[in-house]
Amino acid sequence: MVNTKVTLSGITLDNPVIPASGTFGYGYEFAELYDINILGTFSFKGTTKDPRFGNPTPRIAECPAGMINSVGLQNPGVDKVISEELPKLAKVFHKPVIANVSGFSIEEYAHTCALLDKEPQVGILEVNVSCPNVHHGGMSFGTDPEAAAAVTRAVKAVTTKPVYIKLTPNVTDIVSIAKACEEAGADGIALINTMMGMRIDLKTKKPVIANKMGGFSGSAIFPVAVRMVYQVAEAVNIPVIGMGGVSSAEDVIEMMLAGATAVEIGAANLVNPYICKEIIEDLPRVMEKYNIKDLNEIIGGARK
Ligand code: FUM
Repeated sequence: MVNTKVTLSGITLDNPVIPASGTFGYGYEFAELYDINILGTFSFKGTTKDPRFGNPTPRIAECPAGMINSVGLQNPGVDKVISEELPKLAKVFHKPVIANVSGFSIEEYAHTCALLDKEPQVGILEVNVSCPNVHHGGMSFGTDPEAAAAVTRAVKAVTTKPVYIKLTPNVTDIVSIAKACEEAGADGIALINTMMGMRIDLKTKKPVIANKMGGFSGSAIFPVAVRMVYQVAEAVNIPVIGMGGVSSAEDVIEMMLAGATAVEIGAANLVNPYICKEIIEDLPRVMEKYNIKDLNEIIGGARK
């Protein structure tokens, strides 16, 4: 019998497996496929103050070992998420959910987080300062330590729930940004979001994606994510949620050895919608194989 329970800011998860924002909608669609209550939790689609139609199509480009997306934060807006999406979710998911929030100004981040903070279903706010697919806001707040800290302070001032800041890998020094967020009051750090990428169609000789560039994710970025999680976890004293190219129970364990307390799974959900269920079912076997009795004992183990 192994222990897969982990704790994020006082919230105990049955296991560390969390579908990542943007790959799991608002959850209830996946509940048609399997009982999503087996998940540690999940992070819902990046939500903004106002509804967003998203970017023009094509928005997706397939790549070997990954994909590029440029969705552009399509979402119904926070008011509809609260009045329509969360009530639908409540019928099928009975655990605290992670609310992923994006914005185009500090005030917008604070406004949206303050509203979601009041929702009983929301356990953690994941503040996304790392979306690469919008022309202002999003990633621009995550590439500068002071801007990331300013968003963190503004959100912390109007919320009571744990605030995790989701960082972009598209920087030269992710550690300085993580530390700035910690100093500004962040309760945790989530990393990494997608890496900027581009494909060009040889027939049209034009970019595949209408927005030209997008965020590259999938198993190709896993070693980069492990490296950044390791560096950030070494530098901060708050929990880290690791993500980026995770697609197996072995990857979950590797990410935890790097320093993650919990692990998000993104692009793999789009290839196999059952992947999180399969990973959760496989985790005890892989733990036994590597003589791990309790996942809490391995967090950051590669640094010891
Ligand atoms: O374009 C998008 O909606 C992606 C968001 C993100 O990567 O944070």
